[in-house]
Amino acid sequence: MAVHKIAVIGGDGIGPEVIDHASRAAQKAAAKFDNAELAFNKLPWSTDYYKQHGRMMPVDGWEVLAKHDAILFGAVGSPDVSDKITVNELLLPMRRKYDQYVNLRPSYLFHGVDCPLKNKAPGAIDIVVYRENTEGEYAPVGGQLYVGMEQEIAVQTGVFTRKGCERILRAAFEAARKRRKKLTSITKSNAQVFSMGLWDDVFAVVRKDYPDVESAPLLVDAAAMDLVRKPESFDVIVASNLFGDILTDLAAAVTGSIGLASSANINPTKQFPSMFEPVHGSAPDITGKGIANPLAAILSAGLMLDHLGLAKSAKMIRDSVAEVLKDGKVRTPDLGGKATTTDMGDAVVAAL
Ligand code: NAD
Ligand code: IPM
Ligand code: MN
Repeated sequence: MAVHKIAVIGGDGIGPEVIDHASRAAQKAAAKFDNAELAFNKLPWSTDYYKQHGRMMPVDGWEVLAKHDAILFGAVGSPDVSDKITVNELLLPMRRKYDQYVNLRPSYLFHGVDCPLKNKAPGAIDIVVYRENTEGEYAPVGGQLYVGMEQEIAVQTGVFTRKGCERILRAAFEAARKRRKKLTSITKSNAQVFSMGLWDDVFAVVRKDYPDVESAPLLVDAAAMDLVRKPESFDVIVASNLFGDILTDLAAAVTGSIGLASSANINPTKQFPSMFEPVHGSAPDITGKGIANPLAAILSAGLMLDHLGLAKSAKMIRDSVAEVLKDGKVRTPDLGGKATTTDMGDAVVAAL
């Protein structure tokens, strides 16, 4: 039996609540359908860990993590400690340090899920966002001066490299080729130099290698409108870090709930482990109530199985989630029901 080493970081808030169900479902699927074992290494890195040790992870944390085949991540962020620490000393550095430059985020309107838009049939919305995940507007370049004074100033520079634009655009075109062969490149080319000067230029070069893919640029503000007005017009969307972040919450909302939105942070070279996490955060407003929807985390674990080459179990995770949603008997409050996190996790595990 092949053994895959998985680091599990539940993190804060609903993170640990949902990630337990994701681990459980993935373990059952891998054993049953791919004869594979997942060896979980639960790491307590979180805001609580920070409060005890003064850091989000141990000094050798990055070396520890690097020894795993993949990372399953819940969420970080806590009302009582700044995101400057929680998010910026664990999550964002991980994406950069491990060069997880592809942030793949699917949005699919499942059968049995109410769409907030009128007259959308199941499957009518089927989008994958390829979000650049290591640079762009999130580059930690800048600073703050004269803090608290009248002349206070904060500067953050977007960093776009030709290599960074090219590799995410190519990854997105490759994905489009395997799907409905349509790609939309999101920019703010009417106002921002990195869009008009570099991203669009690289897009023009890369698209020549994919004549079989219908591709077009779209301004981010218009894209936000179209995601609501005609989401069926999108197949693969490729976007910079910030635009991809915003558009994926929107895509999650139009497909029913952020509680269904999964994501993969992939290092395609496999030099470092890739990381799999729900799109949502730690949700302090519902923490401890036992009502968080675990499906986003479970679907993220499915993306992890796929990345590990366990294609059958990955498909079974997705199929089981689809079956539970279609059946409709078990629904957490975000989907209009009264079920608990555990009810939902149990339903998926039973369906597997
Ligand atoms: P959030 O995603 O945590 O919550 C937004 C809303 O969605 C809330 O009303 C919440 O209850 C709801 N929600 C989220 N996940 C849900 C689920 N699985 N089931 C049902 N409802 C769900 O975003 P936020 O409130 O803006 O952020 C809270 C904290 O999480 C902040 O500190 C933020 O920085 C952090 N955050 C972390 C990550 C991450 O670790 N990957 C992602 C996003 C936000
Ligand atoms: C996400 C989150 C993060 C991001 C935050 C916590 C920095 O919103 O994963 O979507 O913007 O990437
Ligand atoms: Mn986000």
